[in-house]
Amino acid sequence: MENLSTLVNHQIRLAARPNGLPTRDDWSFTTAPVSEPEEGGILVKTLSLSLDPAMRGWMNEGKSYIAPVEIGEVMRAGGIGVVLVSKNSSFNVGDHVTGAPGVQHYWPVGDKQVARGDVSKIDLRVGTIEQWLNVLGMPGMTGYFGLMDVGQPKAGETVVVSGAAGAVGQTVGQLAKIKGCRTVGIAGGAEKCAWVVNELGFDACIDYKAGDLKAALKQQCPKGVDIYFDNVGGDILDAVLTRIARGARIIICGAISQYNNTGAVKGPANYLSLLVNRARMEGIVVFDYAPRFHIAIAEMAGYLKDGRMKSREDIAVGLEHFPETLLRLFRGENFGKLILQVAKD
Ligand SMILES: NC(=O)c1ccc[n+]([C@@H]2O[C@H](COP(=O)([O-])OP(=O)(O)OC[C@H]3O[C@@H](n4cnc5c(N)ncnc54)[C@H](OP(=O)(O)O)[C@@H]3O)[C@@H](O)[C@H]2O)c1
Repeated sequence: MENLSTLVNHQIRLAARPNGLPTRDDWSFTTAPVSEPEEGGILVKTLSLSLDPAMRGWMNEGKSYIAPVEIGEVMRAGGIGVVLVSKNSSFNVGDHVTGAPGVQHYWPVGDKQVARGDVSKIDLRVGTIEQWLNVLGMPGMTGYFGLMDVGQPKAGETVVVSGAAGAVGQTVGQLAKIKGCRTVGIAGGAEKCAWVVNELGFDACIDYKAGDLKAALKQQCPKGVDIYFDNVGGDILDAVLTRIARGARIIICGAISQYNNTGAVKGPANYLSLLVNRARMEGIVVFDYAPRFHIAIAEMAGYLKDGRMKSREDIAVGLEHFPETLLRLFRGENFGKLILQVAKD
């Protein structure tokens, strides 16, 4: 058993609500002692954190699908850890678990949190820690249920996904291919586009930074767009709206192009295309699908195993690098699912 009195919990807390892109001053760095969990609780050592665009939204005040992180609170973050001390018969020391440890080295999970299901075991024989944060984790679940439940793809249809080389995008595009769709990605830069086509097997990928997006969409989607999985919002959503087919489904998953706006969010000017094409646009929140995650995990683990699906992660190391690493998402500097490794197993 670990001598807890020798351990220090390094934490990163929200110090201020950012205006635009977060800066170093929006964070504070604190330490806390590590203590024994209460009866029914467990103590988890954080191994890897999921860095997500949604974190930017959690830093804002106001109503959303989840409460904001309060000033002075440890920054919320999903992640994976290993059980260091267990006072709960459902968990053994050494179990790998997933949940929301926050940006800190040690995560005390109380009995009520355990009972609520805030922490669950993962099986590293099914996928690596990185895959459990990517295709088998929150982004993969988002891609799966957004595409399958809302998009309802049919073989032969054309699926377009933005943020194609990112965490959610890579799952959506590969799944759409597996379901027999023509699959077109949108990503920033030739390198990301080449990977999406050559490694993931998309039919095409449009580099939105390279030129005329509308013309490229017309060329790559000659029969129109049946499903658009939108990860970015803004101008790209507007451009795709001009190319949708009759009965199209648009999944509003996220709008990363708008998250750091200091003014109003840019809405889609071309929304009347929904009317003309009898199309619909629907938002999703991944947590709503939690009761069915196990089904998607089983299916995607099968694809990973038989090679029909690949996963790419972009791994930074060191809890103290959280502030600048998070910004990579908003600059398009991550290539694949962005993960912050904070400790080794
Ligand atoms: N609704 C839900 O439940 C749910 C759950 C998870 C994620 N999401 C959303 O899904 C989206 C993707 O998340 P992710 O975790 O998979 O992130 P990601 O795609 O791995 O990383 C973000 C990527 O967004 C692109 N990007 C950044 N700024 C952009 C801009 N101004 N215009 C166009 N693209 C931009 C960059 O790629 P390029 O280099 O290609 O520009 C960047 O690499 C986000 O909007 C996120 O909020 C929603």
